[in-house]
Formats: sequence, C-alpha cells, structure tokens
Amino acid sequence: MSAPSYADLKAWDHAYVWHPFTQMQDWLQEDPIIIARGEGNYVIDVNGRRYLDGVSSLWCNVHGHTHPRLNRAVTEQVNRISHSTMLGLANIPSILLAKKLVELAPSGLTRVFYSDAGATATEIALKLAFQYWQLRGETRRTKFASLVEAYHGDTLGAVSVGYSELFHHFYRPLLADAVRLTPPHVFRFVRGMSAEQALAAAQAEAEHTLARQHAELAAVIIEPLMQGAAGMWAHSVEYVRTLRQLTRQHGILFICDEVATGFGRTGKMFACEHAAINPDLFCVAKGITGGYLPLAATLATEEIFSAFLAPYEEFKTFFHGHTYTGNPVACAAALASLEVFAEEQVLERLQPKIALLTQRLQGDIAALPHVADIRQWGLMVGIELMRDPDKKIAYDPAEKIGIRVIREARKRGVMIRPLGSIIILMPPLSITEAELSHLLDVVHTAIRTVT
Ligand SMILES: Cc1ncc(COP(=O)(O)O)c(C=O)c1O
Repeated sequence: MSAPSYADLKAWDHAYVWHPFTQMQDWLQEDPIIIARGEGNYVIDVNGRRYLDGVSSLWCNVHGHTHPRLNRAVTEQVNRISHSTMLGLANIPSILLAKKLVELAPSGLTRVFYSDAGATATEIALKLAFQYWQLRGETRRTKFASLVEAYHGDTLGAVSVGYSELFHHFYRPLLADAVRLTPPHVFRFVRGMSAEQALAAAQAEAEHTLARQHAELAAVIIEPLMQGAAGMWAHSVEYVRTLRQLTRQHGILFICDEVATGFGRTGKMFACEHAAINPDLFCVAKGITGGYLPLAATLATEEIFSAFLAPYEEFKTFFHGHTYTGNPVACAAALASLEVFAEEQVLERLQPKIALLTQRLQGDIAALPHVADIRQWGLMVGIELMRDPDKKIAYDPAEKIGIRVIREARKRGVMIRPLGSIIILMPPLSITEAELSHLLDVVHTAIRTVT
C-alpha cells in the first residue's frame, strides 16, 4: 500500500480530527504541518521540512527525538511485553523506576503512584491529600489553596485549583472553590512594584490567608519557581520556601507540581532542589519518559502512605487507578532517560547552554522595542510582547501577535508555540549551543518582523 499523500492526510485530518486547545474554525482554513519523523532536536514533516523543536514537543522531549538509547529500551520492552495491569500485579520496569524516582526526588518522598498525564498526577495528589485528612479524622480540611494563574491540567479537580475565567467559566458549577494566593509576579507586573516589594507583598498575603484559613485547608499546591502555562511566570526560591514554611507551621500538606519543571528544565533535576525544600506530595509527568510516552507519577511521604493502611474491610484503600497505570514500556523509556541523564552528564553539560540563553535574552532579545518582560528559569523562557511596554499597553488579542511570531519562526525552520502574546521557548536539554544560537536568531528576527 502506498503512503497517503499530504493532500489525503490533510483532508482526513480536517474531516475526522478535533485538536486540543484549538479553534477548529481557524484550523480548518489552514494547511496543517503534519509531522512524520523526529531526528535529534528536530521534527520533520511529511514533505521533508525540518524544524528545530523549540518547545520540546509541548515541554516533553529531553534528550532529542529517536535517541538510540531510548529507542532500544522501548523496543526491547515491547519485545518482552507492552502492557500488563498494576491492579493486583506488578511489573519489572515500574518497580525499578519507582526505586529510582524515590532516590532522585526530594527526600522524604518514599511512595510512587503512577498514572499517565500531568493532570492525573495532580488529580491524584489532590485526592490523596483530601483522603489523608479524612482518614486522620480532620474532616474539616476539605479545601485547597493554589496560586493565582496556576495551571495543573484539564481534569475537573485540576481545573478547580487552576481556575481561569477565560478558559473555564463554562464548568464553574462543576468545580470546587479554591483559596487563591497571589504570587509575587502579579504584584510586580500588575501593580508596578519592585521585585522586593512584590515578594514581601506575596509573602504577607500568604501568611495572612493561611493563618486565617488553615483549619479548612487540606493542601497548598504550586508549580515551584515557574508557572508555565500562565505564560512562564517566574517566582523566587524565597517565595517557595515561605510557602513551605507556612504550610509546615499550619500543618497543611504541600504539593509541588513539577510536571513542567521536572527533569532538568530549570537547570537542576527538580525545581524543589533550587529552594532546598521537601514537599509532602510531588507530581511529575511530561519529561519523565524523555518525552517518549505518556507516563506520570505522584510521589508521597511515608506518613501519607501509612494513613491509608488498615484491614481490608475498613475500606481505607485509595480507590483510584487508570488502565495504563505503570505501563511497562513507558516505565522502560523513563528508566532509559534517567540513565542518559547520568551517562551523558546532561545536567552538567546544560549549564553553559543556560548561560548562553540568559546572555542572549538579556542582550539582543531584551533590546527589541516590543519585548516587555523576559522570564527565565534554566531552559524555560517566556518573552512577553506588548504594544507599548513602558505604558504597559497590551496587544489586542485580535492581532494574534504570538501566533504571527511563531508563523514567522516556522517559515525559518523553528517550531515554537505562544501563550497569547508570550513567546515560549523550552528546547530539549540536548539542544547544542549552535542550535540554541540559531533558535534565538530566528526568534529575534520573527519578533522584529512581526512587531
Ligand atoms: C505544571 C503543569 N501541571 C500539569 C499539567 C498537565 O499535564 P498534562 O497535559 O500531561 O495533563 C501541565 C501541562 O502543561 C503543567 O504545565
């Protein structure tokens, strides 16, 4: 059978596929880029055009596409078995990976509960925290606190703590109310404070809110250091430390969602390491398999785990699971990815790349007249564009400024994705310095051309 042509694929995509986070009315007017292959830090479309993968295929890819080590691990595991259930059975890769994750994660996290997406990892953390307090007899602790502009995934529990009026107002009746804490950036950017003033205001607000509402709070959930989907809004290690200290003081559980920041993105294996804090619950996904396969994990402390232990007939069990939980092929990819981290000294070799990125961002990119703000932690970057940065006048959404910039970049062989008027960069950790320079050259030209 001959391979389908681009025209066939486009017609069938338009006829049958509903794309996520996509206004399909626009999509159906466009010629889609259809990816056929990946090679190192590039994705290649069905017409043979190569694009530098500037956002790691939605913040997932770590060591490049078709990495021989990961390919081999996946193939070998497929030849053994592709799937068996974790309900009532164990499998080899999920055991080995759990041991490895516990060794790597912030100390105190001793138990690994698998699922298959960032949203499920956070959903599980919320449910674990909730049930933990019910089992402990502290039944008034039924609420969660989260940061303003948080994003923890698209399932209903995750949306409850990551509520945004624009995206989620349709689901309002289905959601639980969360207590919202204002992170420093909102004070700084929206209220025009200095970084120090903004940090102090955010700390004071958290102190006040948690002191007032601690008795009804099950947990505080945050994306440590970088609120990714909000538009790469960075906060300092001091803010994370304050929240950890306040949650300890008031006996509230602390959940760190490292779905985006985990596996090297911030320059260390996990963002929590920068702040030297240990959460009670810890969520990872995206980069866990090197960006190969869907897998997620929620790690918990022994104290939380032991609250669920009881004779069968007391039904204290955590009644939660997904069909593909702990899938052996995904776990094998994750194990291979962690081996590559060690064998290729990925984190050590990342540091000069981060320095190069910082230098270019603070240099020629920051100098562009419509660049209002640049946020960076490691290889996670948000470049905020504004019509008038001095007067803080934003672009009209109808101008689709971000979309136009990424289209210009695509014409030049670079694949990036905006969040509104914020240009996001999050290349694979394996990007070379030459590729990184090229990425920044293209981003510079694309922004200059469009603005
Ligand atoms: C911090 C964070 N948590 C959770 C999620 C949800 O992950 P998924 O899309 O795999 O459900 C994301 C996705 O971007 C994220 O950035």
